[in-house]
Amino acid sequence: MTAPDPAAAPLLQVTDLAKTFGATGALLSKGVQVRAVDGVSFSIRAGETLGLVGETGSGKSTLGRLVLKLIEPSAGRIVFDGADVTALQGAAARQLRGRMQMVFQDPYGSLNPRMTVGELVREPMVVHGYGGDLMRTRLESTLREVGIDPRMAARYPHEFSGGQRQRIAIARALVLDPKLLILDEPVSALDVSIQAQILNLLQGIQRRTGIAYLFIAHDLAVVRHISHRVAVMYLGKIVESAPRDQLYSAPHHPYTKALLSAVPVPDPVLERGKTRIALHGEIGSAASMPDGCRFHPRCFRARQAGAEPGTQAASWRGLAMPTACLQQLPPFETVGAGHQAACHFARLEDRFAAPHAVQQPPALAGAA
Ligand SMILES: Nc1ncnc2c1ncn2[C@@H]1O[C@H](COP(=O)(O)OP(=O)(O)O)[C@@H](O)[C@H]1O
Ligand code: SF4
Ligand SMILES: [Mg+2]
Repeated sequence: MTAPDPAAAPLLQVTDLAKTFGATGALLSKGVQVRAVDGVSFSIRAGETLGLVGETGSGKSTLGRLVLKLIEPSAGRIVFDGADVTALQGAAARQLRGRMQMVFQDPYGSLNPRMTVGELVREPMVVHGYGGDLMRTRLESTLREVGIDPRMAARYPHEFSGGQRQRIAIARALVLDPKLLILDEPVSALDVSIQAQILNLLQGIQRRTGIAYLFIAHDLAVVRHISHRVAVMYLGKIVESAPRDQLYSAPHHPYTKALLSAVPVPDPVLERGKTRIALHGEIGSAASMPDGCRFHPRCFRARQAGAEPGTQAASWRGLAMPTACLQQLPPFETVGAGHQAACHFARLEDRFAAPHAVQQPPALAGAA
């Protein structure tokens, strides 16, 4: 995989982006606020893929929709291709979509079943005022680019398989030659063998065109191959971000470690010896965030650290946990080259091996 130019200015720069929704249902009358995205910063360079990973409910789709200007941010700034696009609305925001497009998980839901493939892929060009000849050549070349025979353009989405439908959705997103594609779980609904084909397709397109991807997924296995860098999101915040190989070989955040311990390792010996790290309970709701570190109710590291001699601990539901974890939101700090993590213990993590490299649960640090 060719690396994008590290000296290049970012194509997309997102700073302190936030989105708060009013809660729905029973919580509506209580005035509860849902902090779906809560102060997120990241950048993507031309030709780069940033993998964005986190469980359902962590705020990934909201973040994607904010960047694409499908919804308005509550706070923060978005600079795209050298221009501040944060406040763009209406026609100006639609114009931006020529250069930035989104592909969704379910191509069936996002492709109008009453339109032919040709109409679906032509539609963005009609909206953006393309002429007849250009439209015809772009339609054919884009369908070829995604591996769909242009002679199939008169057919309807239901006449294609799931993988082919996702190719058609990708063609529709690519037809205006955008610089950035936001892919929201684009392969989650597909069989594993088809997933690999779509990932390879996306990589080939990136090599040829230099397009950048924000690739959203709910597990670390899917984004491993395609990403240059990976960001891990938990309850509205990015909790760890690193170059791909760094994140998979030396994760610092306990949440990343837990997610990674569930990813199969190709080496059968390592796979057998691997320790799975339990994620206690559910992700919880963005409408009622835990105090302190949002991950503390599920964090194995906080449980270990709470038992270490010398750690200032308090009782949480009968478990000893560091008071810092219970009371203070950890800062997002640098732990290595291009590597940041938000955990009070992140800087001590060289004492804790990556989960796929350890045979036993990590020893308590205080015992050393
Ligand atoms: N339109 C909305 N109104 C209220 N809450 C929302 C809305 N959209 C998303 N949420 C809430 O925001 C949080 C993050 O959702 P989402 O961005 O869909 O996460 P993900 O894509 O990681 O699963 C969830 O708690 C979800 O219920
Ligand atoms: S700050 Fe504490 S609770 Fe949060 S991830 Fe680190 S150890 Fe776990
Ligand atoms: Mg989502």
